[in-house]
Order: sequence, then C-alpha cells, then structure tokens
Amino acid sequence: MTYDRRSVKMCVCHRKKFDAILELAQELDCKTVDDIIANDIACKGCGMCHPYVQKMLITGETRFVPGDVYVKTNS
Ligand code: FES
Repeated sequence: MTYDRRSVKMCVCHRKKFDAILELAQELDCKTVDDIIANDIACKGCGMCHPYVQKMLITGETRFVPGDVYVKTNS
C-alpha cells in the first residue's frame, strides 16, 4: 500500500489527525465511532471520516488510501 500527501489522515471537520484521535480513544477506551462522538473527540461533522475512524479503531492504522475503506473483497 502506498501513501502520499493525499492520504486520509484526519477528521477535517475537527482539524484533528487520526493519530491524536487514536491516542485519546485509547485513553478513554472508545471502541466505536459513536464512542468517539460521545466523548467529544471528533467525528461530529460531515461523517466522511467515520469509516476511516472505525477502521482505525480496529487496526490501529492512522493513514489510509482515499476510498480504501469502501473497497469490497470477494472473501
Ligand atoms: S471529516 Fe470527520 S466529521 Fe467531517
């Protein structure tokens, strides 16, 4: 997987990078996007970051290829 400056790496509405969101999510034991929202960390705007943030919570990744979270597999 190749990342460049177009990588998705932040919640634009809150101007908060996924690294910072993940750190706070771990501190506050957030498991879902709803937990992130309930704790006022990020994700309360347009919602475009939600699938990325959900994947971040599962994998710990904080940079994504745009649209990668929407790619379906045949498995
Ligand atoms: S980019 Fe995160 S809510 Fe809009």
